[in-house]
Amino acid sequence: MARRRDTTRQEQGRAAPAGERWFAELVPGLEAPARAELQRLGARRLEPVADGVRFEAAQPARLVREARLVAAFYLALDFAVPRPKALLGDAAFRRLSEAVARVAGPHGRGTPLSGGPFDGLRLAAAGAGSPVMLRLGEALAGAAGLGFDPEAGELVVRLRPGRRGGWEVLVRLTPRPSSARAWRVCNRAGGLNAVVAAAMNELVGVRPDDRYLNLMCGSGTLLVERALAGPARRLVGVDLDPAAVTCAERNLQAAGAAERCELLAADVAELDAGLGRFDVVVADAPWGDAVGEHDANRRLYPLLLERAAALAAPGARFALLTHEVRLARRLLPAAPGWELVRELQVAHGGHNPLLLLLGRR
Ligand SMILES: C[S@@+](CC[C@H](N)C(=O)[O-])C[C@H]1O[C@@H](n2cnc3c(N)ncnc32)[C@H](O)[C@@H]1O
Repeated sequence: MARRRDTTRQEQGRAAPAGERWFAELVPGLEAPARAELQRLGARRLEPVADGVRFEAAQPARLVREARLVAAFYLALDFAVPRPKALLGDAAFRRLSEAVARVAGPHGRGTPLSGGPFDGLRLAAAGAGSPVMLRLGEALAGAAGLGFDPEAGELVVRLRPGRRGGWEVLVRLTPRPSSARAWRVCNRAGGLNAVVAAAMNELVGVRPDDRYLNLMCGSGTLLVERALAGPARRLVGVDLDPAAVTCAERNLQAAGAAERCELLAADVAELDAGLGRFDVVVADAPWGDAVGEHDANRRLYPLLLERAAALAAPGARFALLTHEVRLARRLLPAAPGWELVRELQVAHGGHNPLLLLLGRR
């Protein structure tokens, strides 16, 4: 009976008992816009920690559904135990398995909080392969009615030493991280993390009368995220590679945004005034980490900055994500028409590209 009442409360979006703590894993470098988004969506008592932020929320399901700038959401629990083995003790294990059941729902079928079913449970912890961790993982999976799958389990339970002693347990609320968007039906090598794309759009500003141009759009991550963030006067994506344009088209279709966007297979160098003027330009330029690409980028980057300026309306904003940190820093002071507003170093797939926010002079 108690369980049924809980489910009903969750469905009404009033799930969280007072004082319950949640954890949002954030992309390093993008903490500030992500924290602002969390507060806008109702998170309270934010407490920044090394790789994210802890918070309270009356409607955590709303946060999970609507936040675009968070890498993953977790239910957070602190255990005053000296080592993980003690989590197998009666009281600690009961509390832990109740938390897992709250996220997983009956037999891992999911809850309004998770938004979907889970296939298997895994532990993510230093020493996850040790006998104690394996016992704990198996016991938790059994209590939740799930299989224990140390490699690919979708219900992720993270264990790590607590900040004030003891152990912290984080139960991921969704079967996949939030950056794995439902709209992504096509991916390409070098595809941008959707959380980084959403943050780039947020930092450069989302206004309903913007004419928005995504140069070198690849699979369309920036364009899709911008279309989903709100109305715009125009939304245009351009890529040299027709296969990239087809891929972006598929993702836009899946996002239900294809009809609002224009896609063009073209070389940035050849874009001219015929395309129109834009209030926002964004680009995630070629990485240049393969031999030979650096040379191509030395020719491409000046052209990119020059063409972006030519297509930019007065007062336009330009967000450029680049792995060519030294090249971009060298070119920027002499770049025609652009002044540096802000720069951020962002973590992306083991790299630390530079996010440049530029303003049209
Ligand atoms: C890092 S990828 C962009 C990835 C994209 N943000 C995504 O999420 O899939 C760089 C893209 O630049 C495109 N590109 C390279 N040179 C170009 C040029 N001269 N004109 C237009 N696009 C170009 C490539 O085809 C590639 O799709």
